[in-house]
Amino acid sequence: MSKAPPLRLGVNIDHIATLRNARGGRHPDPLRAAFAAIEAGADGITAHLREDRRHIRDADMQRLKAEISKPLNFEMAATDDMVRIALGVKPHAVCLVPERREELTTEGGLDVVGQHNALAPVIARFTDAGIRTSLFIAADPAQIEMAARLKSPAIEIHTGAWCDAVNDGDMAKADAEWQRVVAGAALARSAGLEVHAGHGLDYATAETIAALPEIVELNIGFYMIGEALFVGLGETIRTMRAAMERGRARAVAA
Ligand code: PXP
Repeated sequence: MSKAPPLRLGVNIDHIATLRNARGGRHPDPLRAAFAAIEAGADGITAHLREDRRHIRDADMQRLKAEISKPLNFEMAATDDMVRIALGVKPHAVCLVPERREELTTEGGLDVVGQHNALAPVIARFTDAGIRTSLFIAADPAQIEMAARLKSPAIEIHTGAWCDAVNDGDMAKADAEWQRVVAGAALARSAGLEVHAGHGLDYATAETIAALPEIVELNIGFYMIGEALFVGLGETIRTMRAAMERGRARAVAA
């Protein structure tokens, strides 16, 4: 039996809204997707209010907060406008993500080293409001150490480079990226950060990463919404949970 802590699944429903917006009406409704995801075993719902509102809209966030029975994770850029909106919605958690090139590290995560002066007061405001912040960063030691210095309660390790390499069949790159994720998760946990991961995960990569005991939450969207077209959202989430459980069973306590 694994002694690793439970691994939560946050289901990102952005692309239900992408589909809805393609026709400009109300269907398919991201709130209905959130209900179905929770019914099938999601531990939380994740949604990204982008500055261009390309998928989730302000009213979606309000409805999600008002209606779902599980934690809402509000992904956002750390702009004044978004901070004001998030403080109004009062989600369980926010995940600060880069939206413009100048906010990105070379690895694609948020550049917390370059932006620490701007991020510190944002994290403090959310903490004061009882909202848990996580920073979406590459598994880079300098970024992780800065996240801990900024007293962010959590980070989310950007798994995109690893997943892309796996999907491209570039196993040398995939192995190097995986080693970075493994080392980053251990460093972050030892620095006192809660460790999450996400971006580009599918059944196989979610099963693999579930074996890392430091990681307590995965946020997964695009792959599952695509799978749901063929087998339904409930079946997709149950299959994802089973993959995560198989991986978790291989974890040894951190
Ligand atoms: N985590 C964060 C911070 C993200 O920005 C995204 C993409 O919106 C995800 C997780 C989910 O990634 P994907 O849709 O590729 O599963």
